[in-house]
Amino acid sequence: MRHFVYFSSTAATSGKALSDGNLMKAGRIDIAIHSLIQGVFLSHGFRKDVTFHFIFYGMPDPPKHIEITVKDELDISKKDVGNLIKKILYKYKPGEKTEVFPGCFIEKKSLLNMVEELLGKGIGCFILDKDGESIRSAKIPEDCCFILGDHDGLPKKEMKRFKKSITPVSVGPKMYFASQTVAVVNNELDYRGI
Ligand SMILES: C[S@@+](CC[C@H](N)C(=O)[O-])C[C@H]1O[C@@H](n2cnc3c(N)ncnc32)[C@H](O)[C@@H]1O
Repeated sequence: MRHFVYFSSTAATSGKALSDGNLMKAGRIDIAIHSLIQGVFLSHGFRKDVTFHFIFYGMPDPPKHIEITVKDELDISKKDVGNLIKKILYKYKPGEKTEVFPGCFIEKKSLLNMVEELLGKGIGCFILDKDGESIRSAKIPEDCCFILGDHDGLPKKEMKRFKKSITPVSVGPKMYFASQTVAVVNNELDYRGI
């Protein structure tokens, strides 16, 4: 199984905050949407071997963890991902991990706890970092996770902590959009047959 963890320090953390329809104003949810599309959509289908995690630290109720794995029963459209995220946020219940739609969950969880949970399950984690080791030479297990940031990048404090135990990997010498890095990682893993 492939995992992506997308972190945003500004993405809105309530359904109401996403309700005025201006995604750019909702802490750049547009970047989160583009990244999810590159993570789980294919031209004529879906990547059902990908779980996409959003960790949102924006107002009014951070942190929020939204988990999306596309299932046959999930009604999801590339044109309506913002609405899906909004509906999931609306269904948040304090103190529990709620399955809002098939394969779509919401709970309160920090980036640190999210990554520790994945490491605890034996999933090989990598930080997406322009200055990291080239993904082309990285040893990547079948159960793997790639952690990336939005336009503001990843939080410095957590990065210091992760860099001791998690390998940073680069997908190329330029600073790419978050969504572009997700597409490159998926492509690399497709070539490897992982
Ligand atoms: C638009 S970039 C963030 C730019 C931000 N100003 C910074 O300095 O981190 C969004 C995310 O994409 C990932 N990224 C961008 N270029 C990359 C590259 N060449 N290799 C690996 N990851 C990259 C990083 O995880 C980054 O946090």
